[in-house]
Amino acid sequence: MRRYLVLNGPNLDLLGVRRPDIYGTATLDDLEAHCRAWARNLGAEVRTFQSNDEGALIDAIHQAREVFDGIVINAGALSHTSYALADALEAVALPVVEVHISNVRARETWRATSVLAPVVARTIYGRGLEGYRWALRFLHFAAARPPDTFAYGTHPDQVADLRLPYGPGPHPVCVLLHGGFWRDPWQRDLMDGLAVDLASRGVASWNVEYRRLGAGGGRPATLVDVAAAVDALTGFGVLDLERVAVAGHSAGGFLALWAASRHRLDLGEVGSEPEVTPRLAVSLAGVTDLDTAVDTDLGNGAVTAFLRGGSVAMPFPPTGVKTLLAHGERDSDVPATFSLEYARAARAAGDAVEVIMDREAGHMSLIDESTSLWHQVAEDIVEALA
Ligand code: DQA
Repeated sequence: MRRYLVLNGPNLDLLGVRRPDIYGTATLDDLEAHCRAWARNLGAEVRTFQSNDEGALIDAIHQAREVFDGIVINAGALSHTSYALADALEAVALPVVEVHISNVRARETWRATSVLAPVVARTIYGRGLEGYRWALRFLHFAAARPPDTFAYGTHPDQVADLRLPYGPGPHPVCVLLHGGFWRDPWQRDLMDGLAVDLASRGVASWNVEYRRLGAGGGRPATLVDVAAAVDALTGFGVLDLERVAVAGHSAGGFLALWAASRHRLDLGEVGSEPEVTPRLAVSLAGVTDLDTAVDTDLGNGAVTAFLRGGSVAMPFPPTGVKTLLAHGERDSDVPATFSLEYARAARAAGDAVEVIMDREAGHMSLIDESTSLWHQVAEDIVEALA
C-alpha cells in the first residue's frame, strides 16, 4: 500500500478560524480526516503532521525518506521564503506536490512566488481543501503509470503528458483537454485518472496543458495551444494518427469539439492547417455552446473572460467527425441540456452523434475513472479507435 505524508506549515493549525473568507470554515482536523478518506479511496494511506516551526517541518521531511512514497505539503507563508524547506524536499528526492488552499496567484504579489516550486512535481492552488485531494490523486496516478512530459511550445504551460499502453505500437491515442472554465488553478491533473485508465485499455493518452485565464490564456492563445498540442502527435512514430480521439471535460469539451472541427475552420486567428484530424470527438459534460454559456453566465463570467472582447469562429455543429456526448443529469455546473441541444443540432447538420446520459451523475463523475459513466465512455472510445 502506498503511503503519503501530508504536511501543513505555519498558521494552518488555525484553519476554520483564520480568514474563513479565504480559507473556509473547516478545521485542520477536518482537513486531515478528509485526506485520510481520500487516500483510502485510492487504496493508499496518509500520515499527517502540522507545525509552525520550520525546523520541525524539515525534520519531518527528512524522516519521510524511505518511509513514504510521496509528500503533499502546504508550507503556508514559508512557501514564499524558505530555501531550507526547498533544500530538504530536494534532498529526500520523493515526489512532492505543493498545495495552497487559496489562489496565491490572485492575491498579494509576494504570495505568487514559491521558492518550493522548482523542486516539486506540481503546485496546486486555488482549489480550496479539495486541492489536497487532487494532490493525492496526482501522486497516486504518477506512481501507477508515470507519464513522459513533452513540450509542444516554449511557454511553460505548453506541455502534455504521454502515457503509452504496454506492448509495441502503433497505438491509438486519445487527446485529453481538461476543464475548469479555462482558469489557471485548474490544470491537467484533473484528467490523470482517465489518462491512466485509457492507457491500461490500450489507448495512449496525451493529456494536454494549455495557457489559461490568469496565466496568458483565453482567446486566441488557448486555442493556439490546443491546435499545436494536437498536431504535436505527429512527432511520435509510436502513435497511429489514423486512430485519434479528442476528449474534453466541461470547458475542455468545447475545446475538444473545436479541435475536431479545425479542418473546417478558416484558420486566420490560430495559424496553420491541421496536421491531425481526429476520428472521434468526445465532450464530457461539455460547454458545447458559448452563446448560451454567456447568456446564462455559466462559470461566473468565464466565457466572457475567455473571449476577451472578441469571438471564436464556430463552424460546428457539424464538426464532420463522429461525436460522443456524455453528461450527468445532476450536473449543476454545466446543465445536461448543453449536450442534448448540441446533439440535436449536430444530428440535424449531419454528424453521427451518440449521447450517454446518466441520471445520478454530477459534473465531476465524468472525470472520475471509477464511475460506470466513465467506463461506458471509455469502452466507446476503445471501440471507435479499434
Ligand atoms: C496558503 C497561502 C500562503 O500565502 C499563506 O501564507 C498561508 C496559506 C494557502 O493555503 O493558501 O498560510 O499556503
